[in-house]
Amino acid sequence: MNGSQALLSSMVETLQSKTDLSSSQVNVVICPPFPYIGFLKKITDGVSIDAGSQNVHTEASGAYTGEISVSMLQEWKVQYGIVGHSERRAYNGETDELVNQKSKVLLGANITPVICIGESLEQREEGVHETTVIAQLNAALAGMSEEEIKSCVIAYEPIWAIGTGKTASNEQANQMHEVIRTRLVELTDADSAKKISILYGGSVNAKNSGELLGQPEIDGALVGGASLKPDDFSQIVNSCL
Ligand code: PGA
Repeated sequence: MNGSQALLSSMVETLQSKTDLSSSQVNVVICPPFPYIGFLKKITDGVSIDAGSQNVHTEASGAYTGEISVSMLQEWKVQYGIVGHSERRAYNGETDELVNQKSKVLLGANITPVICIGESLEQREEGVHETTVIAQLNAALAGMSEEEIKSCVIAYEPIWAIGTGKTASNEQANQMHEVIRTRLVELTDADSAKKISILYGGSVNAKNSGELLGQPEIDGALVGGASLKPDDFSQIVNSCL
């Protein structure tokens, strides 16, 4: 629930002038609040920036005041949809089961779900971070075909690192990505699992993105705070190039 049309305009202009959006090395996606998606699509017409949503409802349509359906996202030509962000899990009662349903609804509309998983500080301190994250992953992907799993993006976001300025160390992040990748190999196969993007999220900024994104198992970043600063976000994009 951040930003404005003016910020989006400035972000798109800055990305165009400071990064090489046509590079095959990077895929830039902006997931603004719902009211801005139409505007974003308009100002990125012909520009290599994809649009994503921050949520979707599971029902196709109906009396669900305040909700957004997948067909509305399709009309906006949204390519990605974030599901299960820890804030939605915490404040909107988004359960693993709902994350699974929403991911399937998106897949059914050819929209790539960006499935967020991650442990709390308590769970890490108790040493159950790996089992927690794998349980979330299993639940999110339950009942999906291999083809569907291959069409998902996974975002590992330790809750204790989101918006706190505390980043997981390169090693901590890479190790968790390895654990997730290993499970994806079991669910698909080695080649396919390699191609599934696993993003890291949690206080990624212009200073630490180079090292984090340089880790072998980290394929990209889900950026919150730094995505509100066009120069910083452009630097993060450039650290992928
Ligand atoms: P942050 O947010 O980059 O500000 O930690 C990440 C997120 O909200 O997913």
